[in-house]
Amino acid sequence: MTMALDLARALDPVVFAKDCGLTPDPWQAELLRSTARRALLLCSRQSGKSTVTALLALWVALFEAGLVVIVSPSQRQSAEMLRTIKGFLAHLKNGPSIAAESALKIEFTNGARILALPGTEKTIRGIAGAALIVIDEAARVEDELLAAVRPMLATAKDGGRLIALTTPAGKRGFFFESWTGTGDWTRVKVAASDCPRISKEFLAEELKELGAMRFSEEYELEFRDNDEAVFPMAIIAAAFTQEVQPLWN
Ligand SMILES: Nc1ncnc2c1ncn2[C@@H]1O[C@H](COP(=O)(O)OP(=O)(O)OP(=O)(O)O)[C@@H](O)[C@H]1O
Ligand SMILES: [Mg+2]
Repeated sequence: MTMALDLARALDPVVFAKDCGLTPDPWQAELLRSTARRALLLCSRQSGKSTVTALLALWVALFEAGLVVIVSPSQRQSAEMLRTIKGFLAHLKNGPSIAAESALKIEFTNGARILALPGTEKTIRGIAGAALIVIDEAARVEDELLAAVRPMLATAKDGGRLIALTTPAGKRGFFFESWTGTGDWTRVKVAASDCPRISKEFLAEELKELGAMRFSEEYELEFRDNDEAVFPMAIIAAAFTQEVQPLWN
């Protein structure tokens, strides 16, 4: 990379994004320029949350020369974000040189690495010093997996960065609790109506397809009580009353 070009890209992630072929929406630009260490993004389906976070992941890797890990409910989804990152790199003129690359990782000659991790906590221990942890579809990631990745920030400079992005999925789990809690998070909310690429016609179609309940989760960012829990809970309750003998017998 040439010095001046490099500096402009390092100073402004939006400049970098454009060189990667992405013209960020206003909220995406704001996120790219934010230096928040802990961020929660509650965003509609198809709003561009994975895309902008992929861009940020690449920027952090290149300009902080650090380790970036991508976590999601499955390795396939994490690898998908890595693929988006490779698309940006392919677009970037005078980009960085790559030392090694596979479907699950990119290593740069400056020592930076981006890893797409599996969706289970058993195989990911032992990774340390992450500059950034990205948790895609965070409301659907097991809390055990999050417990396993958080220590990766422990030895990072300034405590590293963590960005969790998702649509809502029930009133439970790490994301819901963090979003509604009093913890020190930067909270970003992007409804479907904030996204210039999602049309009213498309939303009307989705409402018909998904029904009001799911639509309100996927596009209007409502955390709903988990419907399906009602049935198993009834079964559990029935089993319980069979087991416990009434006291008056
Ligand atoms: N700023 C942008 N300009 C043009 N296209 C964009 C922009 N941001 C995202 N997109 C495109 O919008 C589509 C949805 O983006 P993305 O997959 O990042 O959304 P998402 O919020 O992660 O969606 P999902 O909930 O389905 O995972 C993709 O085709 C992506 O390339
Ligand atoms: Mg996504």
